[in-house]
Order: sequence, then structure tokens, then C-alpha cells
Amino acid sequence: MTRLDESDITGITAALSAHDRAQIGLVGMDYVQMAHLASGYGFVGDERARRVAIVPVTAGEGLIGGFGEAVCAILTVCGASPFVTQGTDVTGLQEALVGGAELVFMADDDSCIAFAPTGAHSDAVITSDNSSATGIGFATALEQMIERSSDENDRHRVLVLGAGAVGRAAAIHLVQRGFDTAVFDLDEQRGRALAELCGGRLEQDARCFTRYRNILDATNTGSFIAADDVTMGTRIAAPGIPLCVTAEASSKAQVYHNPLELGIATMYFDCLCQMGSGMEQGGDKRV
Ligand SMILES: NC(=O)c1ccc[n+]([C@@H]2O[C@H](COP(=O)([O-])OP(=O)(O)OC[C@H]3O[C@@H](n4cnc5c(N)ncnc54)[C@H](O)[C@@H]3O)[C@@H](O)[C@H]2O)c1
Repeated sequence: MTRLDESDITGITAALSAHDRAQIGLVGMDYVQMAHLASGYGFVGDERARRVAIVPVTAGEGLIGGFGEAVCAILTVCGASPFVTQGTDVTGLQEALVGGAELVFMADDDSCIAFAPTGAHSDAVITSDNSSATGIGFATALEQMIERSSDENDRHRVLVLGAGAVGRAAAIHLVQRGFDTAVFDLDEQRGRALAELCGGRLEQDARCFTRYRNILDATNTGSFIAADDVTMGTRIAAPGIPLCVTAEASSKAQVYHNPLELGIATMYFDCLCQMGSGMEQGGDKRV
């Protein structure tokens, strides 16, 4: 997982940004509604704001400036009642528990998780993982982009670039949704393993993306898709950081991207689903 930089998240506020609003045109909904759809959480309208603690973690390379505040802002948009603990690490976790947090969000350099303290809702383990939630969230966004298009070509063929944890969750979800799903990773072993795991096809050509109209980018290299590689009909759902497309390609193709919002929102509603509230389409979709 690429470590976020403070500059990646500076525009995240406790209201939809201009970028968020512009993205609605691509997928027909904002990221909160997309997260509802991706997690299977049915909006009930009178859901009470959950008390959510975000605990800063100093391990590894340490705190990312503004990360806790960005997560707090996203959860506010989702209708939660979040707070960032004053203390970090174990002290922060204690503060969260004593402060009556119903959910806790924590992230280090390798993982970003949410969990409900045991006993807060039930004895069941309630937890959600950002890589999985992000993969499913962006796969759902790609599906919405395809559904909204009047273009009848290539509606069922999708390509997942990158076979890490995000690409894995996305590929499994897309196969489960009935898409003819291909996978490519620069690391051939990784690509092959994911194609076998999800029951998709393996692509072995580094420029295979030029042959697809529907792409999910879960890579960690940026700007490798240029304007000549896409058409106005190319749909790209891109959790990958840095962004896979050049600025020119981004203004030509349809590119759905945000650096944190959809993944965090999907984690939140995934947890609410597991708590048993607002379940409509049903299901723990974790992979
Ligand atoms: N937007 C979000 O909310 C969000 C959330 C989580 C992770 N991410 C980002 O998503 C990306 C994927 O996360 P991950 O944890 O699965 O990462 P990862 O590092 O485990 O996997 C990335 C994979 O992409 C492959 N790759 C790199 N360049 C490629 C290319 N040009 N073509 C094909 N494959 C290529 C790598 O070999 C690697 O296997 C990272 O950039 C991560 O930071 C974004």
C-alpha cells in the first residue's frame, strides 16, 4: 500500500468538495451513497449518529499530517459523530474506549481498520478493512459508470490493474457481479495468483489497458496511461495512488478517483451492516 502524503488529503472537508460534486456526474451519486451501495447498507433515514473514535498511530513512519482530521471529516459527511483522540496509540485507544466509542478507526503504514469494541453492540467481532472496502467501493463505482453509459460496446468486459489487496477485493467483487474480468500486474506471479483466485482471465501485456473500455486501477505507479491510450468512452475507477492517468488522459477519459473518501465511508457502512442496522441488500462482503 502506498503511504498517503499530507498533500493527497488536504482537500478533504466535512462537506462534499467541488471535486466530490463533479464526480457525481460520472456515477450518479455521491461517495456516501456509493458506500451505502457497496457495503449493502440500506439507508434508513433516521439512523442515529454513531460515536466514532479515530486513534492516531505513531508506529512505523509515524503520523501523516491531517490524516485523522480527514477521516473525521469523511465520517461527518457519512452522518457519524466522530472525534480524533488527543492521545496516540495505546493511550488513544484507552481514551476511545473510556469515551464510549462505538467504533474505532486506526491506521499504520500497512493497514487501516475499523472495529467495534467487543460488547459495544454484541459479542460478535465487527471489523472492516480499508483495502477490501476500497476495492469493493471502486468496483461498485465502475459498475455504476458502465450502467449509466448508453454505449452498448464492451459493457461486460473489465480489466483490473494491480493485484494487491485493493485489486484483489475489486476483482473478486467484479467476478461475483458477473463481469468478464481480466487481471494484469507487472508482477506476473501476483497477477496469475489473483486470476486463479477470482476465476478471471490473466493478461500478460503491460499495455493491455489500451484494449479495454472499463478499467479498475489498483496500482501504485502513476501517469502510465496517456491520452493516446484512452477514448472519451474509456471508464476508469481509480483508487490507485498516484493516479494512473496523465492530466491529459484524465480530461479525455471518464476517471472516478478519490484518495480516501469512498474507502473510509464504505468501511463505516460495512461496520453498520455488521451491527445489523439498516441491512437491505444484505451481507458482509468482505473478502
Ligand atoms: N483511494 C483510496 O481510498 C485507497 C485506499 C487504499 C489503497 N489505495 C491505493 O491503492 C493502490 C493499491 O493498493 P494495494 O494495497 O493493493 O497496493 P499493493 O502495493 O499491494 O499492490 C499494487 C500492485 O500494483 C502493481 N503495479 C504497479 N504498477 C503497475 C502497472 N503499471 N500495471 C499493473 N500493475 C502494476 C504492483 O506490482 C503491485 O502488485 C495503492 O496505490 C494504494 O495506496 C487507495
